[in-house]
Amino acid sequence: MVAPLIELQSVSKCFRAQRTRQETWAIRDVSLNIGEGEFLCLLGPSGCGKSTILDMLAGFEGPTEGRILIAGEPVGRPGPDRGVVFQDASLFPWLSVIDNVTFAPRLSGVAPSTYRAQALELIEKMGLGGFENHAPYELSGGMRQRVAIARAWISNPRILLMDEPFGALDAQTRLEMQETLLAARGQAVSTVLFVTHDIEEALFLADRVAVMSRRPGRITLDIPIPFPRPRCYEALIADPAFSRLKQDIVRILRQEIVARRETDRA
Ligand SMILES: Nc1ncnc2c1ncn2[C@@H]1O[C@H](COP(=O)(O)OP(=O)(O)OP(=O)(O)O)[C@@H](O)[C@H]1O
Ligand SMILES: [Mg+2]
Repeated sequence: MVAPLIELQSVSKCFRAQRTRQETWAIRDVSLNIGEGEFLCLLGPSGCGKSTILDMLAGFEGPTEGRILIAGEPVGRPGPDRGVVFQDASLFPWLSVIDNVTFAPRLSGVAPSTYRAQALELIEKMGLGGFENHAPYELSGGMRQRVAIARAWISNPRILLMDEPFGALDAQTRLEMQETLLAARGQAVSTVLFVTHDIEEALFLADRVAVMSRRPGRITLDIPIPFPRPRCYEALIADPAFSRLKQDIVRILRQEIVARRETDRA
C-alpha cells in the first residue's frame, strides 16, 4: 500500500494561556491520513481545533503529543511545499497586491521574469485585474482573501492548507472560487486540506469529509464523497444522495453543538 502523504498519529495539542496559564486541550488523539492528490474537508463546531490542525501541518505549531508526518518525515518549519490560506487574509499590509502574491518566489530568489506573468494571470483569474498595485487596505474583505489564495497558489505547492478561505465571500463569488479551485486542481494536482463550516461546500469540493467533535476535537466521522468529477454544483444539489449526506452531517454536527452547550452549562 502507498504511504499517505499526510499522517497525523494520535495527535494532541494543549495551549497554555499567556495571562492565566490555564491549559486548553484544543485536540485530543486525532489520527488522520490524507493520500497524495486527495481533497479532504474538515468540518466541525467553532473552537474544535480545525485551525490548530492546519497550523501544525503548516509548521507554525508543534503537537504536544503524537506525530505529524508529511511524506514520511516529521513536519518541519513552514516551507514552499505547503501553501497556506488563513482564516483571515493575513496579507502584508505594506505590500501591493502583486508583491503579496509574489512574496514566496521573490523570497526564494526566483527571477521576476519567471513568475511575473504567472502572477498577473492568477490575479486576473481571481477577478483582481487592474488592482495589481493597490494596497490591501484599498480592497474589500473578499478581494483581500482572493489575494491570499493567489499568494498560496503561485508556488504550485504539493499541499494546499486552506482555512475557511471562502467564508467571507458572497454566495455567487464563493461558488466561482470553488469552481476555480476545482479547475486549478485538475491542472496541477495538489493535495488539499480545506476547513469549512459549510456542509454543501464540503460536499461539492471534497473526496472525503472528516467531521470533528467539540473541543477537545477528535474525528467522529470520516466519509468518502462518491460524486464523480468534474462536478456541476446545480446537478449535485438536485441529487438525492447529496441531500442524504448533508442530512447525516447536519445531524452529527447538531449533536456536537447540543453536547457542547450542555458541557458548558455543567
Ligand atoms: N495560540 C493559541 N493559544 C492559546 N489557545 C489557543 C491558541 N490557538 C488556539 N487556541 C485554543 O484552541 C482551541 C481550538 O482553536 P482553533 O482555532 O483551532 O478552533 P477552530 O476549530 O479553528 O474554530 P473556528 O471554527 O472558530 O475557527 C480554542 O479553544 C482556542 O482557544
Ligand atoms: Mg479556525
